[in-house]
Amino acid sequence: MTAQQTEQRVLPSDLKPELLPKHVAVIMDGNGRWAKRRGLPRVMGHKRGVDSLKEILRTCNDWGIGALTAYAFSTENWKRPHEEVDFLMSLFQVVLRQELREMMEESVRIQFAGHLASLPTSLQEQIAQATEETRNNRGIRFTIATNYGGRQEIIHACQAIAKLVEQGLVKPEQIDEALFEKYLYTADIGDPDLLIRTSGEMRVSNFLLWQIAYTEIYVTDTLWPDFNRSELYLALRAYQQRDRRYGSVESTVK
Ligand code: IPE
Ligand code: IPE
Ligand code: MG
Repeated sequence: MTAQQTEQRVLPSDLKPELLPKHVAVIMDGNGRWAKRRGLPRVMGHKRGVDSLKEILRTCNDWGIGALTAYAFSTENWKRPHEEVDFLMSLFQVVLRQELREMMEESVRIQFAGHLASLPTSLQEQIAQATEETRNNRGIRFTIATNYGGRQEIIHACQAIAKLVEQGLVKPEQIDEALFEKYLYTADIGDPDLLIRTSGEMRVSNFLLWQIAYTEIYVTDTLWPDFNRSELYLALRAYQQRDRRYGSVESTVK
């Protein structure tokens, strides 16, 4: 490893380790625009987007961030042209296959959030295998939101809880936030502290609707394929300057 690479693996000195977000979520947007600006087909932007995701995952892991959740495909993204959807589905498989060994080496724990049953069967099998193989890793928790929709997730949780009520296992008045969260896809990772959206769009596009109630939001005009370690540093620096009041009058964290 070169001296520069070693330096990149340590947290920049002006970031306070005790004030780092424990869980970062990203809406990886702008791949299509990145490609269009270069006169390339949109899918080339998705390919380059994978490189950004790898760099952000490794950096979060190196800098001591416990969880990264990345929005890779929404329940609404099926509306895109067939060719683009097919490309993305095979890209997920290729990347999973190629990166699994390295993720094992870096002790990444991978999991998926979303309605996985309607993904192509071969992708479902690979997802199951990657989840199983990395289950006991102790590094960063890496969640890929695939065929994920926040509204769909909430309805899915309601259905599961309604069944418990129907079976007499839970009384309606026992349903509280803690019980509800157990039935979300993010049950074991909790809420993100910081949500980053690239490409300048000021919307959440059906991502983690329940979980972002008190998340700090950071929007950058940078397109996802250009989002790198330095851009993450800027997001974290902005985050560390926020005053998280949670409805109170003064910060509870600092
Ligand atoms: C995000 O980039 C990737 C996915 C939604 C899969 P886009 O494909 O949405 O890129 P833009 O927004 O069209 O530039
Ligand atoms: C959000 O991006 C979904 C992902 C990044 C996977 P979109 O490009 O689909 O969102 P909209 O259409 O701009 O809201
Ligand atoms: Mg987009």
